[in-house]
Amino acid sequence: MSAQYPCLFEPFKLGALELPNRIVMAPMTRTSSPGNFPNQKNIDYYKRRAEGGVGLIITEGTCINHPAASGYPNVPFFYGEKALAGWKDVVDAVHSAGGKIMPQLWHVGAVRRPGIEPDAEVPGYGPSGMVAKGKKRCHEMSENDIADVIEAFAQGAADAQKLGFDGVEVHGAHGYLIDQFFWADLNERTDQWGGTLQNRTRFAAEIVKAIKDRTGPDFPVILRWSQWKMQEYTAKLTNTPEEMETFLKPLVDAGVDIFHCSTRRFWEPEFERSNLNLAGWVKKITGKPTITVGSVGLDNDFINEGSPVFKEAETSDLSELASRMEAGEFDLAAVGRALIANPEWANQVRDGNMESLKPYQKEMLAELI
Ligand code: FNR
Repeated sequence: MSAQYPCLFEPFKLGALELPNRIVMAPMTRTSSPGNFPNQKNIDYYKRRAEGGVGLIITEGTCINHPAASGYPNVPFFYGEKALAGWKDVVDAVHSAGGKIMPQLWHVGAVRRPGIEPDAEVPGYGPSGMVAKGKKRCHEMSENDIADVIEAFAQGAADAQKLGFDGVEVHGAHGYLIDQFFWADLNERTDQWGGTLQNRTRFAAEIVKAIKDRTGPDFPVILRWSQWKMQEYTAKLTNTPEEMETFLKPLVDAGVDIFHCSTRRFWEPEFERSNLNLAGWVKKITGKPTITVGSVGLDNDFINEGSPVFKEAETSDLSELASRMEAGEFDLAAVGRALIANPEWANQVRDGNMESLKPYQKEMLAELI
């Protein structure tokens, strides 16, 4: 046994949250829960990754209790007796394998199109009813709608706590609802929820506050955010460290415990004149622990330019990741596709069996166990 990258296998502790190592399973939508509840295959899938040694599992995006939360078929919901019972089985299976797990709470907002579950008539919801810059094609959210969604996130977190999850992740990334509020291209509101960067951050901050009020200070809340959007890969919410500070402060004040900083390639510097990546800057600015993500253990990105199709990728070594973590740039590293290809990725890396790791192929998603 040769631990090639020892810093990845140091324990992590934040309040009541104790993880055996620094490897996090990235949230990955499976669209394989017909009826919108986790089934036995889903339970086995997560249990296998826990047995494979990953320190923390973040589940696929799971929809909060709001009629417009879902954007894709066969996504598991996070409400209703059957879905919550399914999630309870997932939690118990992961815990029995010694793992930790948090659900990723999700509302897709304006990405939704009519025809999707649970009510085909319900349109997408967005801060300004826009599906793209200048295109008003969906429902513009009222004050009541905003209050309903905040409440639904809080209820989701309270249910997660009751089911025994180890915390929650709020999906504020990739151009879905919370990110639509962040992003001036889709948020043209002139009230307290739009306009300045601080106002555009308010929706996420209120969600985090509502979760904290409901679950108490010891239940960890991760916020995932990204500069890039599914709708526009080169988008930026913040262009300078100063803007980033303005953006992050209300979120820190609201009670975010860990920032999950989504990039497509973790080695890319976020701003000029510094090698720090997004997670590095967020940690430097806030002092909060951060998770980095994006092509860890793989040689290329997970999106083909122009279409959300996931590519093949070869394995790569982890020396760049390890040296950045060692230097304290970020605390945790999330792994997506490499864990699809290798359920035992963490144990294989720990044991120095890098040559046994399989490359990723998108066909693996279809037959995933
Ligand atoms: C994703 N990603 C993603 N992100 C998220 O926040 N919620 C989600 O439900 C999903 N769903 C999803 C499905 C699939 C099949 C893939 C490949 C990706 C993005 C994912 O969490 C991660 O950020 C990227 O995959 C980059 O990490 P890797 O794959 O390069 O390690």
